[in-house]
Amino acid sequence: MTDPTGYPELDALLPRLEAIPRLDMDALASELIAILGRKNGALTDALKAVPSLPLEQRKAYGAAVNQLKARFEAGFAARRQALDGERRRAEAAGVDLTMPARRRWMGAEHPVTRVVDEIVEIFRGIGFTVAVGPEVETDWYNFTALNFPADHPAMDLHDTLYVDAPPVQGEQGGRLLLRTHTSPVQIRTMLESPPPVRVVIPGLVYRNDPFDASHAPAFSQIEGLAVDEGISFVDLKATLVHFAHQFFSAETKVRFRPSFFPFTEPSAEMDVECQLCHGSGCPACKNTGWMEILGCGMVHPAVFEHSGVDPERYTGWAFGMGPHRITMLRYGIPDIRLLYEGDMRFLEQFVPGSKMADPV
Ligand code: PHE
Repeated sequence: MTDPTGYPELDALLPRLEAIPRLDMDALASELIAILGRKNGALTDALKAVPSLPLEQRKAYGAAVNQLKARFEAGFAARRQALDGERRRAEAAGVDLTMPARRRWMGAEHPVTRVVDEIVEIFRGIGFTVAVGPEVETDWYNFTALNFPADHPAMDLHDTLYVDAPPVQGEQGGRLLLRTHTSPVQIRTMLESPPPVRVVIPGLVYRNDPFDASHAPAFSQIEGLAVDEGISFVDLKATLVHFAHQFFSAETKVRFRPSFFPFTEPSAEMDVECQLCHGSGCPACKNTGWMEILGCGMVHPAVFEHSGVDPERYTGWAFGMGPHRITMLRYGIPDIRLLYEGDMRFLEQFVPGSKMADPV
């Protein structure tokens, strides 16, 4: 196929002769015109030049051009035949080769997954490890060991989803339920490994809530727990401020408000400056300029007692935050249901550049 013609300007066309078997139908048609087209085809022009050559060159050059033309013609014909054959076979198999190729979809992380990973990474950076626990719990881990009084309203059927099954053998007893927070993993962690403890605990939690703009019956939480000798509220504050500055921005203002949880004393809630209006007040922060992102406090001595940790020797702090909520606050998402619907038009906004990839 590649036999040189002896004329550089003709040899320059040889790579195109070799490329013919790889052309598709459209490229084949335009290459045919480019080489053999009556008006400006490369070989047509070369032939037109023959009569003006000196007599002694005319014959040999003319023959070379004609030979090359014959090779191109044979190449085009063979490729056309091959493509026709392919098309007939595809048609017989019910495949329409003229249909545009389907785009390949690239997976990407859900925005909440990304937020969870980012949060976990920030805590890993300061020496925390990751722990997990079961989503089906007993009411001992979920409530009793966390110092909830037996008649606490959170245990009500209106708030907690109970599982209609006998308690698991060998577990600290009581009814089975879907955990309403990740705090039971505090107990499991301390029972399993005595202090010092520094863990973050990501996971799903469940509540008997309606599915509306600001509630979902299943959502994510990240628990944090630090227990050691001599740990104080200063450690809690410094760590959570560090987190807020890493996650939001170094300038983000933070405030702590007193609060109540049965398993921490004292307890607080932490607000960060509204990420949308930066404190001036907007609908997202209900004009307060602040957004609540987590609950926290010093571990209650009763929790230590249920976990086999000596409250005279150890102190600790804990926090719980909701990545679904934090994702909404960070991006100004008005309705939590958007994070559950799997609508690509919504989700694509969080993955610039990796939406849908190239055609196959
Ligand atoms: N478990 C609490 C909740 O779900 C959050 C929390 C965790 C508060 C740890 C204090 C300490 O609301």
